[in-house]
Amino acid sequence: MTELVLPNHTNQLGNLLGGQLMHWIDICAALAASKHSQHVCVTASVDRIDFHHPVRLGNVVTLTASVNRAFKTSMEVGVKVIAESFIEGKQVHTNTAYLTFVSVDENTRPVETFEILPETEDEKRRFKEALQEDKPGLAQDLIKIINFALFAFLFCLMYRLKFQLMDSASTENILVNPDIIEYSLVTLITTDTEIFFK
Ligand SMILES: CC(C)(COP(=O)(O)OP(=O)(O)OC[C@H]1O[C@@H](n2cnc3c(N)ncnc32)[C@H](O)[C@@H]1OP(=O)(O)O)[C@@H](O)C(=O)NCCC(=O)NCCS
Repeated sequence: MTELVLPNHTNQLGNLLGGQLMHWIDICAALAASKHSQHVCVTASVDRIDFHHPVRLGNVVTLTASVNRAFKTSMEVGVKVIAESFIEGKQVHTNTAYLTFVSVDENTRPVETFEILPETEDEKRRFKEALQEDKPGLAQDLIKIINFALFAFLFCLMYRLKFQLMDSASTENILVNPDIIEYSLVTLITTDTEIFFK
C-alpha cells in the first residue's frame, strides 16, 4: 500500500503524525489478514510498533504486510514501512509493526482461518517468532489448565514420596537412604504416569 505524506498528515516539525501512520498500518494489515482468511478481519490487538526514523512531509510511504502465522481464528500480521524521498533518491526503513487480527463472520463471531505454510527462510523465521503467549481466549485458558494439572500431579507425587520414605525409614530403621529415594521416585513416576495417561 502506498501513501503520499501531505501537510494535513504532519506535525509542526513537518514529520508524519504517529497516529496517521498507525491508521495506515492498521488498514494495510487488515487487508493482508482479510485476503488470507477470505473473511472480514477485526483488529484484536496492536502488539508492537517501532518508530525507527521520522517520515518527512513529501515522502512516499510504502507499507508491506504479511500474515506471519495463523492460529485458530486469529493471525499475527507484520507490517514493514519504507519511506522514500524521490528528491534525495533514498529509501529508509522507518517502522515495523505487529498486530493480531481475528477473522469474523457477519455477526462478528470468530471463524476459523487457514493455516500458514511458510516456504522461504524469512517466512519460516517470522512463523517461528510469532508468539501466542500473551493472547487471551481459549488457548491461554488451556495453557493455564495444563500448568495447573502438572503442578497438582507433581505435588501428589512429592506427597506420596514423603510418606513412602517415612514408611521405609521406620520399618528398616534408617533416616534417609539415597537408594530408596531414587527407587521410590522412579517407581512413583512410572506408576503415576501410567495412571495419568490411562
Ligand atoms: C476480537 C474479538 C472478535 C474476539 O472475540 P471473542 O469472543 O473474545 O473471541 P475468543 O475469546 O473466542 O477469541 C478468538 C480469538 O481471538 C484471540 N483474541 C481475543 N482477544 C485478543 C486480544 N486482545 N489480543 C490478541 N488476540 C485476541 C484469541 O486468542 C482467539 O484466537 P484463536 O482462535 O486463534 O485461538 C472481539 O473481542 C471483538 O470483536 N473485539 C473488537 C474488535 C474491534 O472492534 N476492532 C477494531 C475495529 S476493526
